Amino acid sequence: MGPCLWILMLVVQPVLAFRRPAEASACRELQEDLDCSNLNLRRIPKQIPDTIHRLDLSRNLLQNLTDRDLPSSSTIRHLNLHGNKIQFIQPGLFQDMRLLEELDLSENSLDLYASLKTHVGTLASVRRLDLSGNGLFTDMSDFFLNDAPVLTNLSLDGNSITKIGRSTFNGSQALKNIDLHNNVIIEIEEGAFESLMGLSDLDLSMNSISCITDFNLVQLKTLNLSKNSLTNFQADESDQEFELQYLDLRENKILYFPVLPQRNKLIYLDLSRNLLRSVNCSGPLEELENLKDGGYLLTDPDKPLSLCVSKRHQDFPSLLYLDLSFNQLKAVSPSFFTSMTALETLNISNNCLESFTVDDGLNSLETLDISSNNLQNLSFGLNALAALHELHLEGNALQTLDAGIFLRLPNIRSLHLQQNQLSICSPSGTPSFGCVQLSSILTLRYLYLSENGLFSVPPGSFQGSPLLILDLSQNPGVDIIPSSFSGLEASLSHLSLKGNQLQSLTIDFTLFQNLKSLDLSVNRLTGVSLWSGDSSLESLNLQNNSLVTLNEVMLQETLRTLYVGSNPLSCCMNPHLLTLLRQERLTVPDLSGATCWYSRDSESVEISVSAVKPEHCESANGKVLWISVIVVLVLGMALALAVTLKLCHSKRHRFKRGIKA
Ligand SMILES: *[C@@H]1O[C@H](CO)[C@@H](O)[C@H](O)[C@H]1NC(C)=O
Ligand SMILES: *[C@@H]1O[C@H](CO)[C@@H](O)[C@H](O)[C@H]1NC(C)=O
Ligand SMILES: *[C@@H]1O[C@H](CO)[C@@H](O)[C@H](O)[C@H]1NC(C)=O
Ligand SMILES: *[C@@H]1O[C@H](CO)[C@@H](O)[C@H](O)[C@H]1NC(C)=O
Ligand SMILES: *[C@@H]1O[C@H](CO)[C@@H](O)[C@H](O)[C@H]1NC(C)=O
Ligand SMILES: *[C@@H]1O[C@H](CO)[C@@H](O)[C@H](O)[C@H]1NC(C)=O
Ligand SMILES: *[C@@H]1O[C@H](CO)[C@@H](O)[C@H](O)[C@H]1NC(C)=O
Ligand SMILES: *[C@@H]1O[C@H](CO)[C@@H](O)[C@H](O)[C@H]1NC(C)=O
Repeated sequence: MGPCLWILMLVVQPVLAFRRPAEASACRELQEDLDCSNLNLRRIPKQIPDTIHRLDLSRNLLQNLTDRDLPSSSTIRHLNLHGNKIQFIQPGLFQDMRLLEELDLSENSLDLYASLKTHVGTLASVRRLDLSGNGLFTDMSDFFLNDAPVLTNLSLDGNSITKIGRSTFNGSQALKNIDLHNNVIIEIEEGAFESLMGLSDLDLSMNSISCITDFNLVQLKTLNLSKNSLTNFQADESDQEFELQYLDLRENKILYFPVLPQRNKLIYLDLSRNLLRSVNCSGPLEELENLKDGGYLLTDPDKPLSLCVSKRHQDFPSLLYLDLSFNQLKAVSPSFFTSMTALETLNISNNCLESFTVDDGLNSLETLDISSNNLQNLSFGLNALAALHELHLEGNALQTLDAGIFLRLPNIRSLHLQQNQLSICSPSGTPSFGCVQLSSILTLRYLYLSENGLFSVPPGSFQGSPLLILDLSQNPGVDIIPSSFSGLEASLSHLSLKGNQLQSLTIDFTLFQNLKSLDLSVNRLTGVSLWSGDSSLESLNLQNNSLVTLNEVMLQETLRTLYVGSNPLSCCMNPHLLTLLRQERLTVPDLSGATCWYSRDSESVEISVSAVKPEHCESANGKVLWISVIVVLVLGMALALAVTLKLCHSKRHRFKRGIKA
């Protein structure tokens, strides 16, 4: 065979492969699975073994599905046709696939098929059907769902449906899980879901629904309405028991707290990123005109109907998670939480609260986030918050607090107090007005106090609080004294004093035997003498200080990570550092930016720490030494030359003699 013929064959063969129906042998077979994905197939391969349970034809170029191609009475249970160009399905094609349970038709062009207005036929045993990403408009799904008696899971994600009609799911009464995420639904006809008695999971997130009134899907367990345009959500006011457990209303435009089922089993309620102004379920009286059945009726025609029975108190006995973050709440009355006896997580961060009070209750709450509000007053009752672990108060305007407020939280582990205007009480002596006591909190492990404009950290400030992490960063000018940390010797593992304008620090950290990480960056330290002996320190940040030498630090055998950038280091007075940098033991993450200074011709020169060479550290003495080395070298070489010459000379003599011999 000539080379031309070979080339021709190479070109022709793949083309032939497309023309001829591919053989199943091109696919990868693994036990009962046949993987024919990604093969550029335009036809379904012939001779698919009838032992196959799972056939993967995803990511090919299939266009038309007819029974010539698909073995009709097959054993296939899972058929994956994702990512083809399917635009035609022979009606009745799946009818005889008696075992077919899972049919994935996602990312095809089934809108073209639907425009033919032909039903796909019976999907006798299909339980899971994926029609996502097919450009289907309103009612187009009808052609697939007409006769799907055992279908439980349906995905219509990423289509262009604008309306769910009353009879959309008439032919698929066994549905349990419907995913309509990412469509453009603006309307749901009454009765569309009501008859689906098994429906438990409905995802309507990312649509354009503006209002839900008389919500009556008692059977639903999960309802996702996040990322719509809801201005209100209102459940049927009946006495029926609702199964609803998860309700996601995040990222809508809801103004007032939704009217939720009276008898509910709600566990999870996300109302974050809405426009809530009140946890009342209707607005202030002036916005309301009619009074109806002891409730208020909002009559503004531009706004949806909002009905809220004023006498009714909403109860949430099973609620575990409530997210109200990123709203416009100005106040939340303590009585709002009365029924939430099981609540574990409450997030009201990023609102406009000026005060927050829990008189009693919320005794299951573990996490409370009231950060980024405008809190001035905070008050916790004696019988409140018994289980609270984690309290977020950062980013408020807190200045004065009841000094003992945190002592009343018997399980508090983590206190986030950064970005406030707090000061710390001294445990000895009478508490000065407005300070907060942080000592003797027996469960406290994590304490964040950065950006509080602290002036001082009085002796024993944290005595009796077994802190693991203490963050005192960004309190420029704060006065730190050795006894500031007394009582923390056994527990403290991480300490940050970053950005405090410290000029010196006279603490012997040798005493803190568990201290693993110390952040002293962005200060004005000129020297560090922090250890009188061995420590267990692993990470030290000295970035952005005024340090010239670091030799003492290097004696800490345990050190693994060191930041040294932005210091006026000396290139020649840090032999230890330079040696260490060349070893594996120590990581210097900011090495590329770390520089040092040396003098050249009585000028200071800055170079990268990693570029330091011995010759940079030659002083005037060094030069003399250098010259003497050169002299010695030159003399030595001259001597060597003389000796060599002499030797050669005698060799030549010997050679001559040899010839002679
Ligand atoms: C698919 O069917 C359509 C119409 O039935 C036809 O026009 C088209 O040629 C077919 N495509 C293939 C690849 O068979
Ligand atoms: C849907 O089902 C209901 C009751 O089962 C029936 O009244 C209605 O006519 C059906 N609609 C269609 C379009 O089949
Ligand atoms: C089908 O729906 C049920 C009920 O919502 C759900 O638990 C299950 O994970 C879904 N299965 C698949 C394969 O999507
Ligand atoms: C609701 O849908 C959004 C968007 O798809 C998703 O991020 C979120 O996790 C869902 N919520 C729940 C409770 O599953
Ligand atoms: C909420 O309702 C309570 C009592 O029903 C009322 O005192 C309060 O002013 C209302 N809050 C708002 C913001 O409407
Ligand atoms: C509260 O919500 C905000 C915004 O959604 C989030 O960033 C924060 O992590 C949440 N707090 C907790 C403690 O989960
Ligand atoms: C905070 O409490 C003080 C004293 O109890 C009170 O005078 C003040 O009005 C309260 N401020 C707010 C915003 O509730
Ligand atoms: C050192 O910290 C100060 C204060 O934050 C900052 O302005 C400066 O840019 C920092 N210098 C370097 C070299 O990072």
